[in-house]
Formats: sequence, structure tokens, C-alpha cells
Amino acid sequence: MNDPVVIETIAGLRATLAGREVAFVPTMGALHEGHLTLVREALELAPTVVVSIFVNPTQFGRGEDLDRYPRDLEGDLAKLAAEGVEVVFAPSAEEMYPPGGAGTTVVGGPVAGMFEGRARPGHFTGVLTVVSKLLHIVQPKVAVFGRKDAQQLFLVGAMVRDLDLPVRIHGAPTARDADGLALSSRNRFLSPEQRLAARALPRALEAASSAADGGVDAVVAAAQSVLMDEELLSLDYLAVVDPATFLPVSDDHRGVAKTIVAAKVGDTRLIDNDDLYLNPAR
Ligand code: PAF
Repeated sequence: MNDPVVIETIAGLRATLAGREVAFVPTMGALHEGHLTLVREALELAPTVVVSIFVNPTQFGRGEDLDRYPRDLEGDLAKLAAEGVEVVFAPSAEEMYPPGGAGTTVVGGPVAGMFEGRARPGHFTGVLTVVSKLLHIVQPKVAVFGRKDAQQLFLVGAMVRDLDLPVRIHGAPTARDADGLALSSRNRFLSPEQRLAARALPRALEAASSAADGGVDAVVAAAQSVLMDEELLSLDYLAVVDPATFLPVSDDHRGVAKTIVAAKVGDTRLIDNDDLYLNPAR
């Protein structure tokens, strides 16, 4: 299996990709099975797959884990080679944000200030700005994002629609370990004890889905009771949202909805979500 060609400059990438039909997978590296699921979907969607590896500083707030965010370019390249990825874009921070820039950003609508956006002010401005830059640089026909980061996926889709960007956004399913925990680059920071506690997230989502016939209140109560039992876990938010708007659903909502949850286990912040069908018996 050939190693992917690693391109560090915007000009070099544009020259390499000229005339090619591209499926694009943006990442921050430290690749795990979850990312490889995105890559495998991308390989089905276009003849050339480009993976970017860039730990984007502007989406980390003060006191967040930018410095300890895992980095392993060599390991990442080996995994991408095994999948048959040909092109990796791995720019430096200076290439993406050259000195002298005017600081133009892409700010999401009100949803960008909720849930993750409330816990991490400015996070989604950083994400949307870098994703918008990457889409302009790579010019793919389709870009693949994980459904695990549900709010990010929603906001990127909204940005693409609102700004008429000529790309299709494809959401790929969440990859999970055998114990149900959604794969995340941050799972490696969990001690064995914390890892056991973290399993409360997928268990809470399962409890939420099982309570769907009771309506939103029953769903929230069922998930909460699982989460509250776990001493090592500190709940940030738990909500049931309408996937079309990402706003909390009304008490009598019927139909498809999404339970979203975020919690800290020790210093490690974890998020997860699951779809459910609300059909409150009335
Ligand atoms: O999901 C991520 O890894 C990042 O938020 C992304 C989309 C690569 C932007 O930096």
C-alpha cells in the first residue's frame, strides 16, 4: 500500500487536485476507527479522497486542551495508507492563518451559542471559519463529517446552505467501542475507572430511546437517572432537539428527535447523541 502524498501548502494542494473530483474528510489527526469510518464512506463517494490533518487552534478556548490534544502524524499516515487514501493536507498554523490577516471569521446563527457553544464560547466560530477555509482550499464535491459531533454537523450544513457553498455535506455514523462508548480522540485520557463511568453516556441514550413513547419529559428523566447514578461524571447538558433546527423540542413533539448529551469525566469532556422517535401516547 502506497503512503499518501502529504501536502503542506495551499498552492501545492490546489495544483495536485486540479480537475479531480474529491471527497474530503477534515480531521484534527490522532485518527481512530471513527475517522476511518468517515474515510471509508468518502472512498465510496468520489475517486479522490483528501484527508486534512490540522489541529485548529481557533476552535480551542483558553484553558482547553489544545496543548495536550494528541498528535501522531506518522501513525495517522500509516492508517490512511492502509485505507488507500492518496492525498493528505497537513498545513501549519502559519499556512492556514498567515500573519497580517484581518481576522475575518464565519459566525454561526443562534444555535452556535447553545449546548457546546455555550460551554465553549467561540468554539463554533473557530470550527466554521476553518471548515469554510478548508472547503474553499480543497473544493470537494462532498465533505464527510461524523454524526457524533451532531451540533457541528448541523452548523456546517447550515453554513453551506446559508452561504451557498457548492459542496454536499455527508454525515457518517458514529463508531463505538464494544462497550458502547463513542470513539473519540479524548477517550485515551480516561483512566480505567473513568472509562467505566463514561459508559453512562451511551447507556443514558439507550434509556432515553426506550422511554420515547412517554414523550420528552420521560426521555429526559430516563437519561438523567442513568447519568445521576455515576459519581465520576459531571453532566453539562442533556436535551432533546429537533434535528431540523437543533432547537429543543416542545413537550408534545411527535416524530424524529435527537437526544444530545455532554459530560465531563475528570478533565475529559465527552459528547454523544442518538436519534429517537417520539410518539407520546395521548
Ligand atoms: O471535528 C473535527 O475534528 C474538527 O472540528 C474539524 C471539523 C476538523 C475542524 O477543525
